[in-house]
Amino acid sequence: MASSLNFFTFLILFFHFQHSSSFSLSVEKPEQDIIMSPKGTFTAGFYSVGENAYSFAIWFTQIHKNLNNATVVWMANRDQPVNGKRSTLSLLKTGNLVLTDAGHSNVWSTNTNSSKPLELFLYDIGNLVLRERKTNGFILWRSFDFPTDTLLPDQSFTRYMKLVSSKSDNVYSSGFYKLLFNNDNLLSLLYDGPQVSSIYWPDPWLHSWEARRSSYNNSRVAKLDVLGNFISSDGFTLKTSDYGTSLQRRLTIDFDGNVRSYSRKHGQEKWSISGQFHQQPFKIHGICGPNSVCINNPRTGRKCLCVPGYSRIDNQNWSQGCKPNFQLSCNNKTKLETYFQRLPHVEFYGYDYQFKANYTYKQCKHFCLRMCQCVAFQYRLVRDQGISYCYPKRQLQNGFSSPEFRGSIFLRLPKRKHAFYNENDIQNGSLVCSRNTGVQQLKRSYIKGKKNGSLNFLLWFATCLGVIEVLCFFIAGCFLFKNRKHSATNKQGYILAIAPGFREFSYSELKQATKGFSQEIGKGAGGTVYKGLLSDNRVVAIKRLHEANQGEREFLAEVNIIGMLNHMNLIGMLGYCLAGKHRLLVLEFVEKGSLAENLSSNALDWGKRYNIALGTAKALAYLHEECLEWILHCDIKPQNILIDSDYRPKIVDFGLSKLLHRNNLNNSSFSRMRGTRGYMAPEWIFNLPITSKVDVYSYGIVVLEMITGKSPTTCIEITDDGIVSHNERLVTWIKEKRRKESEVGCWIEQIVDPALGLNYDIVQLKTLAVVALDCVEKEKDVRPTMSQVVERLQSHQHDS
Ligand SMILES: *[C@@H]1O[C@H](CO)[C@@H](O)[C@H](O)[C@H]1NC(C)=O
Ligand SMILES: *[C@@H]1O[C@H](CO)[C@@H](O)[C@H](O)[C@H]1NC(C)=O
Ligand SMILES: *[C@@H]1O[C@H](CO)[C@@H](O)[C@H](O)[C@H]1NC(C)=O
Ligand SMILES: *[C@@H]1O[C@H](CO)[C@@H](O)[C@H](O)[C@H]1NC(C)=O
Ligand SMILES: *[C@@H]1O[C@H](CO)[C@@H](O)[C@H](O)[C@H]1NC(C)=O
Ligand SMILES: *[C@@H]1O[C@H](CO)[C@@H](O)[C@H](O)[C@H]1NC(C)=O
Ligand SMILES: *[C@@H]1O[C@H](CO)[C@@H](O)[C@H](O)[C@H]1NC(C)=O
Repeated sequence: MASSLNFFTFLILFFHFQHSSSFSLSVEKPEQDIIMSPKGTFTAGFYSVGENAYSFAIWFTQIHKNLNNATVVWMANRDQPVNGKRSTLSLLKTGNLVLTDAGHSNVWSTNTNSSKPLELFLYDIGNLVLRERKTNGFILWRSFDFPTDTLLPDQSFTRYMKLVSSKSDNVYSSGFYKLLFNNDNLLSLLYDGPQVSSIYWPDPWLHSWEARRSSYNNSRVAKLDVLGNFISSDGFTLKTSDYGTSLQRRLTIDFDGNVRSYSRKHGQEKWSISGQFHQQPFKIHGICGPNSVCINNPRTGRKCLCVPGYSRIDNQNWSQGCKPNFQLSCNNKTKLETYFQRLPHVEFYGYDYQFKANYTYKQCKHFCLRMCQCVAFQYRLVRDQGISYCYPKRQLQNGFSSPEFRGSIFLRLPKRKHAFYNENDIQNGSLVCSRNTGVQQLKRSYIKGKKNGSLNFLLWFATCLGVIEVLCFFIAGCFLFKNRKHSATNKQGYILAIAPGFREFSYSELKQATKGFSQEIGKGAGGTVYKGLLSDNRVVAIKRLHEANQGEREFLAEVNIIGMLNHMNLIGMLGYCLAGKHRLLVLEFVEKGSLAENLSSNALDWGKRYNIALGTAKALAYLHEECLEWILHCDIKPQNILIDSDYRPKIVDFGLSKLLHRNNLNNSSFSRMRGTRGYMAPEWIFNLPITSKVDVYSYGIVVLEMITGKSPTTCIEITDDGIVSHNERLVTWIKEKRRKESEVGCWIEQIVDPALGLNYDIVQLKTLAVVALDCVEKEKDVRPTMSQVVERLQSHQHDS
């Protein structure tokens, strides 16, 4: 093998004077006419990009010789592929390297000239160079200076370069997304579409310093190093999740507009994602076209939906967006005929008439009504600051729906059709985007036979034009949350979340990290937790789930959803491992142990307790109300609330949580009893419908425990009526104190944990106690929601 590699390497280096060219590679022998780097890491040659269509490319050498799915890192002629017959890459005597299509037209050249003997050489780092044929010969041209959509380690990305995405997963021609240094010296991602263009990364509404970038370094250079650190002169850095290890790496702008770093072990086929630039890919501009919203569903990937009252222009071409099914007249009656449909958590970026601060909803609406071209307005009220934002819109572009976005869009629609608009229209995915991203084959026939030069030339010329046209018509299609097929951590067609650093680990890697699962740090309902040290020196908690009670699909589905969750007060998930019957989760390691341990060791002063109560409430509110999926925890207890080094709470153990759809409250899959004695809501015991209020109840008990220092399970008492459930005992005791306030004095002082002494804020304590008592009401409908809890607690928070 090695000798044949060398043979190919040097095969083409010789300068023959009998032709006008020194050497040439022919498209007709794509398997043999290749250049390989000395160690065989990279290969350059003709790469098939469609039926009878080839591009001259560099790719990672394939272990399995399947020339159709290699990882291409560079292309000379991505937008102008050449015919599968008689096309050549030739080094001319003039020193120019040219690619000719079907023996006739030049489609690409290096534009070099030299009278000295030259050679083309492919280095093991993936750089193809044209240089003088002598030691330390002058380099005339380097492929590293003209990147396509990929940067390799040690390849400098500089001022005049661009990375341009490909059209789709399998169409290599130039797409609409670009990575470049903008005029402010900032490394940026640009959507450069047919009708609109805009920068979407860094977030366009941020000042450079808010995005932690500096516009003052005008050297404009960025580079990925071999260890996996990407550094840009504007201060942006991306440390890959596997930083420090020796791996094959690349940084690619994918067809969906995000830049991701990929890595794999030498000799492996599969790439894994080790980092990405844009952390919220559904916010990438241009995905769905005008009047359309990108919805990020963790299970089905990204989807484009028309807003109510609009319909899709072209089902095959998502980037065309949607058109209105109505016409708004513009006269004095307009006001009466207009109806505004609210779409909560929907944002359309840009194309505002104006920005109006502190307008009321009514003022904002009237402002929009007065403008004939106002199609909608965005309205956002930040209650606690008393500020409101009003953005009347001219166009609806760059739409996305995200629970994180606190504002709403109010869509202007004619009133008479009012009955047909439904807020749920936008959730109702009748327009499911298929994965058919345009696997059309390029069709070009080669006419065999007589060498009728001029006729053939014309035919070739015509078919060429045809091909170029066909190529131009390829579209990125719907940008599913899907990786290139050879890079995906994709099992059984399941699409995995691509959170930063989120990846699949191998079992041996985790075995090594935990020193053979030796350091146990906890046991939960779902499995055992071990401390581990990853190869990049990160300390992690590794949870080994009890074996084989869950199928692969189910496991991946759940991992997928957990991986998408992202909240300061939820434990972060770094990855997972699925190997045979082993199921492991790799989680953020939290320093200070659980709330239970901290309470029993008296490590928490009042301020910390209050902030832990608030943080926990925020995380639950996020799970209940802000995720696209409705998630119940079902086992809230002090053992499942961990404390980090800043005394912030982090909820763990979603092992018991089950995903429900919002409208499906009587879900029979909840027939099994869940939760932990002492913290369980009465609904579990009386077999009543399970709702998010079960978590509210458990939360209330936990808070009462934090206030009183008394664990509900240590309050066992047998009364005359028999056994009173433990938690009720604690609750009854507190309620009794409150009822008898006139006799016993301030009830708050009676119940507070003696360990706190007098060091507490009485107002906060009272607020928290009252809220907690509301949370443990027997009747679930009387209990507040978690976001109401957050609101009530926030108003008494001290800034610490
Ligand atoms: C190469 O081209 C450049 C500019 O076109 C010219 O100045 C130079 O003389 C040429 N060199 C040779 C060796 O032909
Ligand atoms: C600008 O960035 C380059 C590359 O990161 C760095 O070497 C250089 O020191 C920076 N210059 C200044 C003035 O910060
Ligand atoms: C609308 O009403 C105003 C006065 O009320 C009038 O000046 C204007 O011409 C009217 N416009 C139209 C389009 O009818
Ligand atoms: C809006 O109202 C808030 C609170 O009343 C105030 O702080 C802010 O300055 C106002 N903004 C403008 C632009 O008037
Ligand atoms: C979507 O809407 C149609 C009619 O508007 C309805 O028949 C269908 O059940 C809805 N689908 C879902 C999943 O809600
Ligand atoms: C899809 O729409 C975009 C934008 O309008 C256009 O540039 C592209 O050519 C269209 N593709 C097809 C196949 O119609
Ligand atoms: C390429 O295809 C071969 C055979 O179909 C497969 O074994 C290999 O994993 C694929 N490689 C990549 C990188 O997808």
